[in-house]
Amino acid sequence: MTQSKPQKTESTLPVPEQDALIQSEKLIECIKAALHEQGGAISFDEYMKMALYEPGLGYYSAGSRKFGSDGDFVTAPELSPIFSQCLANQCAQVLNELDVGTILELGAGTGAMARDILLELEKQNSLPDKYLILEVSADLKQRQQDLLKETIPHLIDRVDWLDALPDAGVSGIILANEVLDALPVKRFKKTSAGFKEMKVGLGENQFIWVVSDAEDKLLKRLEGIEEDLSTSFPVNYTSEINTQLEQWLNGLEKVLNKGVMFFIDYGYSAAEYYHPERMEGSLLCHYRHRVHADPFYYPGLQDITSSANFTAVAECADAIGLHVSGYTNQTYFLFGCGLEELLADMNQLDIKAQTKIAQQVRILTMPEEMGERFKVIALTKEFDNDLKGFAVMDQRVRL
Ligand SMILES: C[S@@+](CC[C@H](N)C(=O)[O-])C[C@H]1O[C@@H](n2cnc3c(N)ncnc32)[C@H](O)[C@@H]1O
Repeated sequence: MTQSKPQKTESTLPVPEQDALIQSEKLIECIKAALHEQGGAISFDEYMKMALYEPGLGYYSAGSRKFGSDGDFVTAPELSPIFSQCLANQCAQVLNELDVGTILELGAGTGAMARDILLELEKQNSLPDKYLILEVSADLKQRQQDLLKETIPHLIDRVDWLDALPDAGVSGIILANEVLDALPVKRFKKTSAGFKEMKVGLGENQFIWVVSDAEDKLLKRLEGIEEDLSTSFPVNYTSEINTQLEQWLNGLEKVLNKGVMFFIDYGYSAAEYYHPERMEGSLLCHYRHRVHADPFYYPGLQDITSSANFTAVAECADAIGLHVSGYTNQTYFLFGCGLEELLADMNQLDIKAQTKIAQQVRILTMPEEMGERFKVIALTKEFDNDLKGFAVMDQRVRL
């Protein structure tokens, strides 16, 4: 997502429309029921899961605009087809080296990335045998189907939508742009009495943070992080941890017969993620292009995200037998994937079109925009070739 500085809530954020408020109220009742069932507090990952994915009510399960200028945020494939064209160059290399292959995209947003990758691969005569989309949101699935039927009707037979990972497995590529940041995380705080879990409870008439004892399993994980980083978190340090990452990655590993997974997201290595100065963690919420840090603001109507911890991704990958084959920032990745050559081909466009493209490329690559905040990690299985996206700069040593 392109991002502005976090703002305060309530006074600065637009008030939702009536039907949206009703949807949020229904979701609040569901969350309250879960709180009641569990003695008054639930883990934040459970809250985040309900706020984003509760059937028919969660942010990704219900029908708000989400993407684009009239939605809540803009992602790289929405910003410019150049992003997906570069990614297609990387896919072409893998598909050609594997000889055949399938692409499986997780969480495909509006479908813009699928459309632009397929168009570019068609141009290069490197189409995958199938382009599978695993979409957990019924609303987004409909939007993707509408977009692809309208814009690439001649390629639609290659695209299949899935509700769950395919039993048969795939050989080829798994792609996920801005999916890691949407996975539910737990929240913790270091106090003078040690680590505590920040759960969600109910205040007078809104959800509130509840400082609870951390279970042994979580405690061990947090102590392990301090040990690995050879540092102690300062008192009041608050951050997030995805305790389901290994299980999630394990599911993907089982599905990939051979090939490469690419995860693209905003995030850091563990040392940067848990930097002592990042006292409040990385939890951010997006509502109508405003960014703030209150996940309890109108549940179901705003996106809730947490930056990816790429060291944790690499460690989980390692633990389940995947090879970490590359890690770099978005700028280096796009240049490795042929951004310069793509831009050179656009020289013949009129000046207005060239200016527009230059603006898009600036946002995709400038360090203070998406260029440095976004990283790409590649995990491979039975695929040993060097990947072009990491040819300019491979930063695996930073993990
Ligand atoms: C911020 S959006 C990114 C969408 C799109 N990839 C883009 O870049 O525009 C996050 C997406 O992740 C999807 N998602 C979240 N959890 C998922 C999971 N466990 N498996 C697959 N997709 C998931 C959501 O449904 C949503 O489409």
